[in-house]
Amino acid sequence: MKAAVLYEPGKALRLEEVELDPPKEHEVRVRIAAAGICRSDLHFMKGEAKITLPAVLGHEGAAVVEQVGAGVTTVKAGDHVILSFVPNCGRCYFCTMGRTNLCDTHAATGANLFDGTTRLHKNSQRIYHMGKVACFAQEAVVPESGCIPIPKDFPMAQAALIGCCVTTGVGAAMFSAQVQPGSAVAVVGCGGVGLNVIQGARLLSASKIIAVDINDASLEFAMRFGATHMVNSKAQDPVAKIRELTGGLGADYTFEVFGSAETVEVAFNSCRKGGTVVVVGLAPLSQRAAIDPVALVRFEKTLKGSYYGSSRPSLDMLRMVDLYKGGKLNLDDLVTRHYKLDDINKAYDDLERGAPGRGVITSF
Ligand code: APR
Ligand code: ZN
Repeated sequence: MKAAVLYEPGKALRLEEVELDPPKEHEVRVRIAAAGICRSDLHFMKGEAKITLPAVLGHEGAAVVEQVGAGVTTVKAGDHVILSFVPNCGRCYFCTMGRTNLCDTHAATGANLFDGTTRLHKNSQRIYHMGKVACFAQEAVVPESGCIPIPKDFPMAQAALIGCCVTTGVGAAMFSAQVQPGSAVAVVGCGGVGLNVIQGARLLSASKIIAVDINDASLEFAMRFGATHMVNSKAQDPVAKIRELTGGLGADYTFEVFGSAETVEVAFNSCRKGGTVVVVGLAPLSQRAAIDPVALVRFEKTLKGSYYGSSRPSLDMLRMVDLYKGGKLNLDDLVTRHYKLDDINKAYDDLERGAPGRGVITSF
């Protein structure tokens, strides 16, 4: 089957034929229907984040089940599923305490499947599976716990986005920050994930939602998802502007949704006393943000990270499905570009250029 393989950071993804072995126990073979173009994959392509190579990237996907391995009981051939990039073991400390997005067994096995091996290879060379999803390919073998069944009439491009940017973004507002009605929110970085923080904050009845980006087109686009104010941080000092828009206080909640030390500092400095700073973006591994420890104490700020929206993916993705069906989440307008798998490198060029909304591969 065809897949987009990363061999070396800084090089284009290579589209080639690779072999995919049948699913083992508690694994599922799926045909990919849609795969989102997320910045997390770009971090690996640029060497800003580490993954064992070569690897098939892609972690925001929706698919149709083709074949199930031994012992699989929760899905069957023909089912439509959202893929989770944190499938979970159900037995580790974090799974037991209900924090399934932090599963230790998943973290320990990385881009292998749970048994520590890959189903992807090319001749004798192992190929790794990003997030145990690897959906920049025609097919994938994924853990059973990474398959979240959805109704067959649910649109697949929108389903794919629930697999990452929707759950990550809406979850950051809903579960990590628990935004209170009437509050003021600032969102630094308004791409696929940031737009979902914005619509999550709107859903939770924030009164002021300040979109911050370096791109005017992305800011305009954010207004459609519930932003009430726009700040272009290239043209204006975002910290001063956020303060001005919040009566000199700073925002009740600030979200960093780009992935850099600089934007973490913007989020920290534009949060009011007693407010909450949520870091969603993945900064390059070598970067360190300058956080004033005295400000942390004297201003009693809460600084927290949010991974996969602090969600329990298999439960909370179904809530996103229902919120969309109930007209409370706008996923249709999020999908702004459709691509063929063959054009994946162009899709990432468009992401880097800051094209608004989300690109999705829908032709494999
Ligand atoms: N300040 C504010 N916004 C910025 C800045 C900056 N200095 N630099 C870039 N941006 C904007 C871009 O213009 C774009 O609109 O941040 C947005 C990032 O959006 P995407 O590229 O679509 O990235 P996304 O997929 O949303 O991921 C954001 O979340 O899950 C993590 O790994 C992911 O770190 C990444 C982050
Ligand atoms: Zn993602």
